[in-house]
Amino acid sequence: MDHQLIERAAKDILQSKKTIAFTGAGISVESGIPDFRSAQGLWQKYDPEEYAHIHAFYANPDKVWLMLKDMFSLIISARPNPAHIGLAELERMGLLSSVITQNVDGLHQAAGSSKVIEFHGSHRTLTCLKCSNRVDGTTLTLDDLPARCPRCSSLLKPDVVFFGEPIPWDAQIASFEESQSCTAVLVIGTSAVVYPAASIPFTAKERGATVIEINTEPTPLTGQISDYLICGPAGKIIPAIVDEVKKMRGSEKS
Ligand code: APR
Repeated sequence: MDHQLIERAAKDILQSKKTIAFTGAGISVESGIPDFRSAQGLWQKYDPEEYAHIHAFYANPDKVWLMLKDMFSLIISARPNPAHIGLAELERMGLLSSVITQNVDGLHQAAGSSKVIEFHGSHRTLTCLKCSNRVDGTTLTLDDLPARCPRCSSLLKPDVVFFGEPIPWDAQIASFEESQSCTAVLVIGTSAVVYPAASIPFTAKERGATVIEINTEPTPLTGQISDYLICGPAGKIIPAIVDEVKKMRGSEKS
């Protein structure tokens, strides 16, 4: 972990008028939820065209529910890791305005972040595509899956955004407002290859924001729009940045 870059990030956050975080599956890997495109990612096991496209769900919901049940089993047992907790602490310190996440695992909220924009929806509710009934998913156990509509018995679809589906309009508007008004964005644990989500750091950059990448490897943003990449696991880097911020703040006050 490059301590000079940790110090630089802490300074950038303290000097920034408005900082946001943009997170992907990598921030939850240390909570036991695999990401999608790394060597052990979910898409190595399930072809996203066959399991994560809305047309696949319409054609063969039972088959898609095999992947969904696998994903739910990981999410149900996952707890926030030090990266999620560190972002919630920055919010409490008044240094983080919001988290825009591509993740559907709810771990940012579980860690205490209060302004979380779920760009790809959430696993917490499910909807019946036949009668539009919406069901609370937080009370479901693995034995209840695949979940059926209590009203018409059709298979329910989790309110997560499948490929081929639109992004929830409220999430799009809120994300655009945050990314075009921030002065720094922490881009954490995302391969930045899925649009329109991946346009968020570009919107921030166009408005002059500092783009701070935290990832275990370079991405298409690195060397392009990122000011710098702090290479390593988010579960170590975020707490190190928070500790450095506290140290710098402490020395400011003394
Ligand atoms: N700390 C930081 N970064 C990590 C860690 C970690 N511990 N582990 C993995 N990463 C990085 C990987 O190097 C990769 O760049 O996290 C990134 C994960 O990328 P993806 O698996 O592509 O996940 P994500 O960017 O969130 O995917 C975007 O694609 O499949 C869709 O809807 C799905 O929301 C998802 C979207």
